[in-house]
Amino acid sequence: MTVERHRVMSGMRPTGGLHLGHLVGVLTQWESYCESADAFFEIADLHAYTTGFMDPRAIRDEREEMVAVWLAAGVDPQRSTIYLQSAVTEIAELQTLLSMIVPVSWLERVPTYKGQIEALGSEIATYGFLGYPLLQLCDIAVMRGDRVPVGRDQLAHLEFGREVVRRFNYLYGDGAQVLVEPQATLSQFAEVPGTDGRKMSKSYDNAILIADDEETTTRKVRSMITDPRKIRRGDPGRPEICPVFSLWKFVNPLRLDGIAAACRSGELGCVADKTDFAEQLNVYLRPVRERLAAYRTDRPFVEDVIARGTERARDVARGVLRDVKRAMKL
Ligand code: TRP
Repeated sequence: MTVERHRVMSGMRPTGGLHLGHLVGVLTQWESYCESADAFFEIADLHAYTTGFMDPRAIRDEREEMVAVWLAAGVDPQRSTIYLQSAVTEIAELQTLLSMIVPVSWLERVPTYKGQIEALGSEIATYGFLGYPLLQLCDIAVMRGDRVPVGRDQLAHLEFGREVVRRFNYLYGDGAQVLVEPQATLSQFAEVPGTDGRKMSKSYDNAILIADDEETTTRKVRSMITDPRKIRRGDPGRPEICPVFSLWKFVNPLRLDGIAAACRSGELGCVADKTDFAEQLNVYLRPVRERLAAYRTDRPFVEDVIARGTERARDVARGVLRDVKRAMKL
């Protein structure tokens, strides 16, 4: 029996601030794809330019740092391909070719387009930003990715991408599936709450960073909101609405039942719980942080991982470009 091995493709923008949400929601999943699939992980630097073009230095500085965090989290460079988007020039070439068949209205109706302009201002309303979902499809298609682990906010991009693939195959495929229709796979831990209870995010300033030191982590945990009706120890608490309790799930699930019971009965106060949690969280993060420190001091190793992965990625991309150009009679 042959086991079907999926080509998993995903990417992250090198904009810094990788946090606990990335670790438990994304990177542990990437780690497992190294074993179970043929995994391609992209440093999406061109994507970073769509909103951060005014500050190229910041994007450049985060490249190796972000990959060091990936490696520290357990992503295995021997069993996956880690590469730099801008160095795989076939991606940009494919974007130009596919742009010929993409109606502008398809791009305008992707919800992140208007949403991000409202959030970040009209200076990001560039041609490149409008084309962001197409660039993302090109990332996936050029590696023949068929499974794409993404967060909920990216589902509309994937749906758009599938439409582009169908249109391409219909127009130029002559009955064949020249491009592969990618499928999104939602991460099983969709949302990790931040210190204020909203989704953990660098832009909300509520994130516990992988790169934080232990004191900073402890301070952030102490500042976390809990059940607002539980004012002092003795008051019965509602763990189901408490972000500290949600984080316990990731850090030490064996403790959940005991903590929930003690919180509800009032026996456990929030201050004691946070002190305990901060300690456990630091224990949980310690090995990752130690590996991160090691990779930071071995930058040539990280650069080599990227260089080798980029070469491998280009081999795949060249083959796809050849097929696409042939289909388009170029
Ligand atoms: N757009 C994704 C984000 O902002 C990052 C990304 C770029 C990506 N290219 C990708 C994700 C390809 C999945 C597949 O988070």
